[in-house]
Amino acid sequence: MPNYDSNEVQPAIRSQQIAVIGSGYVGLTLSASLALLGHDVECTDKSHERVEQLAHGHVPITEEGLTEVVEQMLATGHLRFGRDNQGAARRAEFVFLCLPTPMGGDGWADLSFVKQVAEEIGPHLRPGATVITKSTVPVGTGQMVRQALGRDDVHVVSNPEFLAEGTALRDCLRPDRIVVGAASEAVARTVADLYGPFAHSRSILTDVASAEIIKYASNAYLAVRLTFVNSMAQLCELAGADVRAVTRGMGADRRIGPGFLQPGPGWGGSCFPKDTEALVQTAAGFGCDLALVQTAIATNAQHIDWVAGKVAAILDGHVHGKRIAMWGLTFKAGTDDQRQSPALAIARRLTEMGAVVHAYDPTVPAGTLHGIEVHSSSFSACKEADALVIATEWPEFAAADLTALAAVMGDRVIMDARNMIDPVAAVNAGFRYSGIGVPVQLRREEGVAV
Ligand code: UDX
Repeated sequence: MPNYDSNEVQPAIRSQQIAVIGSGYVGLTLSASLALLGHDVECTDKSHERVEQLAHGHVPITEEGLTEVVEQMLATGHLRFGRDNQGAARRAEFVFLCLPTPMGGDGWADLSFVKQVAEEIGPHLRPGATVITKSTVPVGTGQMVRQALGRDDVHVVSNPEFLAEGTALRDCLRPDRIVVGAASEAVARTVADLYGPFAHSRSILTDVASAEIIKYASNAYLAVRLTFVNSMAQLCELAGADVRAVTRGMGADRRIGPGFLQPGPGWGGSCFPKDTEALVQTAAGFGCDLALVQTAIATNAQHIDWVAGKVAAILDGHVHGKRIAMWGLTFKAGTDDQRQSPALAIARRLTEMGAVVHAYDPTVPAGTLHGIEVHSSSFSACKEADALVIATEWPEFAAADLTALAAVMGDRVIMDARNMIDPVAAVNAGFRYSGIGVPVQLRREEGVAV
């Protein structure tokens, strides 16, 4: 599916002057999308190098379609990059804050970037301007932003982002919903309208605190859901069931739905780990015990260890001195992001257990990374390997020629942590196969899982 279709973009009714502060994943995608919708966008970042790169159309992240849109919008003059937060704020009707909110001590979201920038731009805003928090922030941040701005003649709005890496443009231009929290519906509407006519049927207008909670609640719910699915996969293995059938059966229930039910090596990335921790801490601050989310965090960590343990189990109990090939290092396919990547956690665990890991990932150049030797091709990583672990769901892995693969490996063992390979095809090519929640034993002659 294409990431976005420019023919589907319906321009906003009124073109506005917009400042986007922060050119990270969210800020950059938002800036490109708003420019495409017909607004005049000035995107700022404190990094001189990043601004220079972007101003020349060099997009420093892997995100389908983004480079093309940035280049196109730079050429039209609708998109500009700079370093002057105050100047951009002075010129804009709408100012989006797209700043990092990293995990601070004890799991709290660190809001210092948001606060600093709000203090910096406050005195320069036009009367009646709207400041919009796009970063993922705990409930109550809207009030903090208002205080830091030191202005009561501007609007403070929450408009959380829901974009996922790999589909960021589509998620920004054609989102399932546009959530806007503001003091009045009229103000919330002005922000929803920035996204063009498409937004009308998709906007949820509410108060600031509810919008802030919607974002964390959505991410935490998805993380809990995946934790549940991974736990079902573990149960399936013990009970001799097939999690692929189980999730198909669950997903057919309209109340559950088929999306986000794919078991894997555990969830990671730049959002789920940070946002689940932050939600637990925020709730605790209000005296609310989110034991369910806390358990999901701990269960996910155990699941990652369980996957590493499966590699040892299929290799007769240990990996010491074994050469393990790993396909995929990013936290998921379609991105070059390795933050909180389960693949790296599994590689680390296997190394601690005495294995030597040789990896391949289409976004990682050959060399050494955290003690892992990274190869330039999937097959060279597998040369003489005792086992192959498939850790990230890059489509090219599903298309691998298993017979040719069997010929380069030392021992024919696959631990498919993404359930990408057809187990029957793997067994027929002579492999011992282990998936996630997939029956381990296969009757080769019948090609049937038992
Ligand atoms: C997530 C949210 O989806 C997005 O709305 C939010 O704005 C940012 O956080 P992202 O981190 O890009 O986006 O990744 P996502 O596609 O949600 O995947 C998160 C993790 O769950 C990954 O580790 C992924 O591999 C895993 N996952 C996802 C599964 O294991 N199975 C699935 O079915 C879906």
